[in-house]
Amino acid sequence: MSFVLTELSDRILTVTLQRPEKLNALNAEVVEELRRVFHEAKANPEVGALILTGTGEKAFVAGADISGFPALTPVAARDFARKGQAVFDLLETMGKPSIAAVNGFALGGGCELAMACSMRVASRTARFGQPEVALGLIPGYAGTQRLPRLVGKGRALELILTGDPIPAEEALRIGLVNRVVEPAELLPTCRALASKILGKAPLAVRYALEAVNHGLELPFDEAELHEAALFGLCVATNDMKEGVAAFLEKRPAKFTGE
Ligand code: COA
Repeated sequence: MSFVLTELSDRILTVTLQRPEKLNALNAEVVEELRRVFHEAKANPEVGALILTGTGEKAFVAGADISGFPALTPVAARDFARKGQAVFDLLETMGKPSIAAVNGFALGGGCELAMACSMRVASRTARFGQPEVALGLIPGYAGTQRLPRLVGKGRALELILTGDPIPAEEALRIGLVNRVVEPAELLPTCRALASKILGKAPLAVRYALEAVNHGLELPFDEAELHEAALFGLCVATNDMKEGVAAFLEKRPAKFTGE
């Protein structure tokens, strides 16, 4: 691993992109390293939640690596997009909550990576955007899909068609980020958020993620059926019995993830 640093503590895996001289731009090696990290995080029971961030104060991720674009063929570009989409899908659907700690520029693929996380916390200095049209491109890591789902079609199209970046406060106003904090508070805020989720029933957290992520892609009535099936599955868990018993006995619950 040369571009992606991981650190596991208190069941939170902090994933730091480290390519500061290129503002953490995503080249093929970085994307492949992210794939490996997400694959291992999904399988590792010690990992309960992920925080993604960029090294330095300037950039979260300034996009896909533009220096590789001149050599792209149409077929290679399609593969490039499909690979990035698959890696970000893996992050979104791994069944564990992920928080983007957006410490600076989140442009193009960086904004798309942040959107694949369950939540986004931004430093006051962060900037978000999908500037691909300025390069004669469109977003290729599912930005055309996740952005309208997060902020609505009109606002998504304004960002995608103008390519203009927006500051963190504007991203908060349109619902692209959950919170904006001072730079020094960014990682502590994300850790506190992750710790709070880790205190809840793990299987319920997993099924809630699945109900939202998968359900949003289904017709409403099918999504309701899916939700009801997962709700039923929760009742089969020890954690549900423990959570309800703890409430009735007025004591904190002790969840085991079973
Ligand atoms: N791909 C490849 N290299 C990138 C990059 C990207 N997406 N974003 C930044 N870099 C590189 C720059 O080329 C520069 O490298 P160099 O020092 O070898 O010339 C280095 O990172 C620092 O960037 P620089 O442009 O000098 O910083 P800045 O503060 O003047 O501007 C940005 C910052 C983010 C506004 C500017 O770098 C930028 O517009 N980047 C591209 C964003 C983009 O279009 N992303 C979507 C790609 S599809």
